[in-house]
Amino acid sequence: MTGKLTRRDWLVGTSAVAGGVMLGSSASAQDMGSIMNMGAPISPENPIRMTNNENPYGINPKAMKVIVEAYKRAHTYNFTIRGELTKVIAEMENIPEECIAVGAGSGEYLMATGALCGMSGGDMIAPYPTFGGILRSARNFGANIITVPVADDLTIDLDAMRKAVTDKTTCIYLCNPNNPIPSIIEKNALEEFCLEFSKKAMIVIDEAYYEYVRDDSFSTMAHLIKDNPNIVVLRTASKIHGFANVRVGFAFAHPDTIRELMKFRSGTTSYPALMGATTSYQDADYHKFVIDKNYESLNILYKMFDELDLPYVNAHANFVYYNAKRDAKEVRDKLLESGILVGRPYEPYKNWVRISTAKPEEMKYLVEVYKRDFG
Ligand SMILES: Cc1ncc(COP(=O)(O)O)c(C=O)c1O
Repeated sequence: MTGKLTRRDWLVGTSAVAGGVMLGSSASAQDMGSIMNMGAPISPENPIRMTNNENPYGINPKAMKVIVEAYKRAHTYNFTIRGELTKVIAEMENIPEECIAVGAGSGEYLMATGALCGMSGGDMIAPYPTFGGILRSARNFGANIITVPVADDLTIDLDAMRKAVTDKTTCIYLCNPNNPIPSIIEKNALEEFCLEFSKKAMIVIDEAYYEYVRDDSFSTMAHLIKDNPNIVVLRTASKIHGFANVRVGFAFAHPDTIRELMKFRSGTTSYPALMGATTSYQDADYHKFVIDKNYESLNILYKMFDELDLPYVNAHANFVYYNAKRDAKEVRDKLLESGILVGRPYEPYKNWVRISTAKPEEMKYLVEVYKRDFG
């Protein structure tokens, strides 16, 4: 066989057509059809998205129903529902309501914390590589950014970050799990770090992928915010809840800090978004389904990496980071020809690729394509 592996080639080649062997006994017609992307066949123009760490199953169907219904009231300035969402989150997280700010994605509070830190001047310290939102904001508002390379095993190097702190440090950003490298920071070491350095600077812990972690050595730092005005924890509905384009996120912080952050809020979250999030956050079954599927997809990728002898970081989120042993851009371009879009390269790791998990059956398609093109 030459040329592109078509969707039909894949289905025939994996014997999925002949009884769903590859898809397992729980395979359904919907699983099989999901190789279609957003109702249309996959192609370079309509690729399976394995690039932005999104939830491939989308918004919880119950929440979607609520969102659609809520649009009937979208002509009104009704934002009172924010209180209800805050109540739900406060109960889930066991923190007071006044310690929670709701926003249009966590990006809004990355911007706000970046602005707050930037305006106080001085240095912001962050690992490298990491998620860039807060760094851009802090730089725009006047901060000097100091980046600390991750350790040899690609985990965030807390000791090196500790050494980078000076009298000029006003803010420290820690993304846990990190992105693009899905590593985590050990909970006791992180708590000790937060308590020590929050005496000198604001510590921002970005927990965008918090819900995906299944490792006892990980913990949220949300329990620290009540008594430490210099610690801010950020969460988002964009990932496990599938709200990337609906826009709901949170800052958890001391009430005094929340008041400061609110000054930088860019707007308000829409009524349908708030209504949808209130439903979504209360449906644990759906989260479990998404997390189980994520780990199924991760295992499919790990197996391929092991077979092809490609080193990878143990993933604590909905994406992997692995050494393709070839130019990451070449991998990205080649996969796109077969209708798969993976993450962009991150300096200085030119051969390392980030792949966001899609549905398990889509990961199997990626494995077929990958082995054909690079095996
Ligand atoms: C670590 C991290 N923080 C924050 C965000 C932004 O999320 P939001 O959609 O809530 O603005 C992302 C998005 O990919 C992310 O990876």
